[in-house]
Amino acid sequence: MTAKRERLKLGILASGRGTNLQAILNAIDAGSLAADARLVITNKPGALAADRAIDAGVPHQLLNHRDYENRLAFDAALVRALRAVGAEWVVLAGFMRLLTPVFIDAFAGRTINIHPSLLPAFPGVNAQKQAVDYGVRLTGCTVHFVDKGTDTGPIIAQRAIEVRQADDPDSLAARLLPVENDLLVDVLRWIAAGRVGLHDRRVTISAESPE
Ligand code: GAR
Repeated sequence: MTAKRERLKLGILASGRGTNLQAILNAIDAGSLAADARLVITNKPGALAADRAIDAGVPHQLLNHRDYENRLAFDAALVRALRAVGAEWVVLAGFMRLLTPVFIDAFAGRTINIHPSLLPAFPGVNAQKQAVDYGVRLTGCTVHFVDKGTDTGPIIAQRAIEVRQADDPDSLAARLLPVENDLLVDVLRWIAAGRVGLHDRRVTISAESPE
């Protein structure tokens, strides 16, 4: 007999439109992701992601980074809010702030990020524009553990798409977005099933175990 696995206790951080957040909330709602969204934190007033959380009946807090003296104080507030609701894993779902060790150490090995390129190519902002400007023929998205660098953490999964001759950054981003949404939810399902391991920066994904 296999022991019943606990649902993932998720904190989700988002800065903008929130389609990746929505994909997570939809999967939870549909019963296809064994997780509870304990808290959604947005850092910009008016972010659509906040409306998505509220519409889904998920607790939401706006922590505006501009209200804090510095990055360390902002990150300490994020950690306090997430701990207060018992979040154990954190998803950066379009969260456009660099995090300091105050945050990274608090959720080490339990924070994941979705990035719109095939890392290590095109880290940082405007990854889709970087891909178009460079002229790569393939790009994609990456879900990785967050470490102290910018988009340098251990890679969990990637998916590729073709860059078309006619693509501009917006058309490429639009075609990539649903691929990102699916990949992020898939990775969370693997984590919820206890299949993702991290040892010395090496990620292992174990085979699906029969129910
Ligand atoms: C997504 O494309 C995500 O990969 C990207 O921001 C977008 C957020 O979309 N994240 C980064 O570039 C992080 N460096 P969403 O708000 O609709 O989820």
